Amino acid sequence: MALAGKRILLIVSGGIAAYKALELVRRLRERGASVRCVLTPGGAQFITPLSLAALSEDRVYSDLFSLTDESEMGHIQLSRAADLVVVAPATADILARMAAGLADDLAATVLLATDKPVLVAPAMNVRMWAHPATQDNLELLRRRGVRMVGPNEGAMACNEYGFGRMAEVEEIVAAIAAQLGRAEGPLTGRRALVTSGPTHEPIDPVRYIANRSSGKQGHAIAAALAALGAEVTLVTGPTAEADPPDTRVVRVTTAVEMMAACRAALPADVAVCAAAVADWRVADLASEKIKKGADAAPALRLVENPDILASLGRGPDRPALVIGFAAETEQVVANARAKRARKGCDWILANDVSAHTGTFGGDANRVHLIRADGEEAWPALSKAEVGQRLAAAIAAALGGGTDGDA
Ligand code: C5P
Repeated sequence: MALAGKRILLIVSGGIAAYKALELVRRLRERGASVRCVLTPGGAQFITPLSLAALSEDRVYSDLFSLTDESEMGHIQLSRAADLVVVAPATADILARMAAGLADDLAATVLLATDKPVLVAPAMNVRMWAHPATQDNLELLRRRGVRMVGPNEGAMACNEYGFGRMAEVEEIVAAIAAQLGRAEGPLTGRRALVTSGPTHEPIDPVRYIANRSSGKQGHAIAAALAALGAEVTLVTGPTAEADPPDTRVVRVTTAVEMMAACRAALPADVAVCAAAVADWRVADLASEKIKKGADAAPALRLVENPDILASLGRGPDRPALVIGFAAETEQVVANARAKRARKGCDWILANDVSAHTGTFGGDANRVHLIRADGEEAWPALSKAEVGQRLAAAIAAALGGGTDGDA
């Protein structure tokens, strides 16, 4: 029963495949999930609220401006009181509204307000599916972490043939189970916080200060912790990396936002700060684009950013294990040792990021693990392997598993 106790918010939008949503509710409930339904006005042209209510054994929500609905369960609460939001069928229209961030009905508002993972099962005419507008919207949604199942190829209700048929109910159930079924392992029941990527510090509305961090190492650590069963919150600056599976991803831009997101993710058993946080931000942020003119080039006044690692290491909700990185270009181990003490963290992973090493942006990493009671020099490993080795060491330290060779 992979779905026992899981709460699914099912949004049914207006397509001929809406009738399959009824079967989907049945199958999900058979597997132990509870299902709450939002029916769009378009969806209600194809199936009735009564049939959805009967099958879900719950009331059906459809009106953003209904006083009864809002007093019973407001749209914000609706968007949060679920483990997963599923849109099936997802029409071209609702995908476009999601991509644009519209909030013009209950379904779109819930999708904009939710902090939960979203899975969509697109269903539409083959030409609507192939249209660049739809494909661009899907690409944007994918980059934002929205998961997709289907569509399939086949005959359509409109007598055409091609891609656009909604995935079969069993496929949607399998995608939901894959999304919700967290791996069991030595870190099951443990909460982990990981920071990753660079931060961008704005100068004016179009310019910012950044660094070359790719986010690969932090994302690999988050994935490795989740694979051992941990409940992972990944707080990431802007990166091109895909969301690691089975993690809650919080996207931020600046160091100040990253700090707030990390604080909000506490308590945690372990925090791994792999982000390359900008040390400074611009003191006087220009509200308009700074013009190139006759005057001398502008001088930027910088102020120090909060140190997230040090704050986690010394803060009131200190995780049992606080781990930082030290990206150095000289005296790698000596500098990292000093940093471990200065920042109040338990372990530091020190790596040489001199230009010749290709560590920033590359796939490989050579690290030294520095603890209070000793040091280990790890061989050159892929960033995925560094993540796995670190996750195994964390599991051992938290008393949940064997330390392997880490
Ligand atoms: O002081 P330095 O930037 O070299 O320290 C690197 C470590 O501190 C990394 O783990 C990084 O994620 C963390 N850090 C942080 N907040 C900052 C600066 C660094 O969490 N403002």
